[in-house]
Amino acid sequence: MNIRTVLTQPFSDQKPGTSGLRKQVPTFQTRNYLENFIQSIFDVLDNYQGKTLILGGDGRYYNRQAIQIILKMAAANGVGKVLVGQGGILSTPAASCVIRKNQAFGGIILSASHNPGGPDGDFGVKYNTENGGPAPEKVTSAIYERTKVIDQYKILDSEDVNLDQLGSLTMGEMTVEVIDSVADYAELMQTLFDFSKIKELVTSGHFKLCMDSLHAVTGPYAKRIFEEMLGAPAGTVTNGVPLEDFGGGHPDPNLVYAHDLVDTMFAPNAPDFGAASDGDGDRNMIVGNNFFVTPSDSLAVLAANATLVPGYKDGLAGIARSMPTSQAADRVAEKLGLDCYETPTGWKFFGNLLDVGKATLCGEESFGTGSNHVREKDGLWAVLFWLNILAERQQPVEAIVKEHWATYGQNYYSRHDYEGIETDKANTLMEQLRAKLPSLKGTQLGTYTVDYADDFSYTDPVDSSVSQKQGVRIGFTDGSRVVFRLSGTGTKGATLRVYLESYEPDTSKHGQDPQVALADFIKIADEVAQIQTLTGRDKPTVIT
Ligand code: G1P
Ligand code: ZN
Repeated sequence: MNIRTVLTQPFSDQKPGTSGLRKQVPTFQTRNYLENFIQSIFDVLDNYQGKTLILGGDGRYYNRQAIQIILKMAAANGVGKVLVGQGGILSTPAASCVIRKNQAFGGIILSASHNPGGPDGDFGVKYNTENGGPAPEKVTSAIYERTKVIDQYKILDSEDVNLDQLGSLTMGEMTVEVIDSVADYAELMQTLFDFSKIKELVTSGHFKLCMDSLHAVTGPYAKRIFEEMLGAPAGTVTNGVPLEDFGGGHPDPNLVYAHDLVDTMFAPNAPDFGAASDGDGDRNMIVGNNFFVTPSDSLAVLAANATLVPGYKDGLAGIARSMPTSQAADRVAEKLGLDCYETPTGWKFFGNLLDVGKATLCGEESFGTGSNHVREKDGLWAVLFWLNILAERQQPVEAIVKEHWATYGQNYYSRHDYEGIETDKANTLMEQLRAKLPSLKGTQLGTYTVDYADDFSYTDPVDSSVSQKQGVRIGFTDGSRVVFRLSGTGTKGATLRVYLESYEPDTSKHGQDPQVALADFIKIADEVAQIQTLTGRDKPTVIT
């Protein structure tokens, strides 16, 4: 066994963002780049020697190569055992599930989520802790600090592992076990949902389901669960083979990038239920026959109907949503007498609430929904949750959502993204906006009165850690809001996200085009932040 110590020099740009370290593939292929980051992870962890690590990724370009490097580094650093998904595949929620099931000390997930892949696409590395969730800020900050000074890493000289062959082998003193990527996850889903009821629905012949895996990681999971276990007809899962470049597509389940599914679902005689998931399987988009469900509404509907689902039949402990997510879930929480938590953007902020049992369901407007079953958002879980509700209620998606609005009112919602803005311009915009905040309260913007204007700061109710500057919020006295923040997941320039929300209790005004219903706030957002003037853009790149 030959462990080599390799001298290296720090890279200055290894600060993890909203969800791990994401860079373009050529950056990760730079000599020692991946190795430095991986060694920095091991360097800041304590007491992992001899214990189990989970490893897998979304199958994108460079996944297999990175796994071989990480295995050799794990062996050199004294990890006892690594469970790696077959073919290097583990969806993000499946990795979380496997970490928890095996009481691993943590997991390394290779993914850049919904960002495009391929030799010129993006790659990413995320470290998850023993609860199965993304490392909290204190860990990611420690890793970053370490990357700034690292001067050596350890790696074992060894043959590559055959990732396609299930079973156990040794690498130095470490055991490597190549595991079925789907089995543990599918088993967990069976404990939460009424599979026989869902099976009755999807095999009844009068219900058509369509799942678009966008050539990303959920293909094998969706085929096993929907087609093999639940008996949905072959072909229910489309684009079900994970490809290293996602077939050239953008594996992001929204109305813009999941266009094939959208075309199918908005055609005459469309299927009853359509869904899509992203690169690493943690996001979901839910569409009914000619009807799109916003992620914020989806969270609220799942919460309101949770007791119909076996895994949640005793009710919820609480609901948590990220700050920019619409307040639709808050209304459900209020009615059910539950606590509702507002956290910064990023799933890592839900971890503590889930761990101590303050929240059961969590959601983000960015097509992320999940629960305490794992510590990541979970795309297929959301699809199964919806199917279980549909099987119980025997109503179309549209009817369920409209009934929900009639009960709770409708929170109109939209997000406008301005992608690839020059970083300087984006920073100037945010700085100028922040400077205005203290003088906004009580003033009129359009015909609305500003109730509060601040930069969101969050104090974690469990460990009292404080996260500042999490997004500019301008709230109006009628409950509507405009929120601004810069993306923390992009790899090129900056992305400005503008989140717009208004509340409509009047049923006769429900179901309008959100861009029309939110027109006043779209105008206000541009005026107050000077978007056109400062970015030179006259419209967003992506509207969801
Ligand atoms: C985006 C989403 C955020 C999500 C993250 C990871 O982050 O907005 O809700 O948790 O991706 O999927 P952002 O690019 O906005 O920092
Ligand atoms: Zn993702």
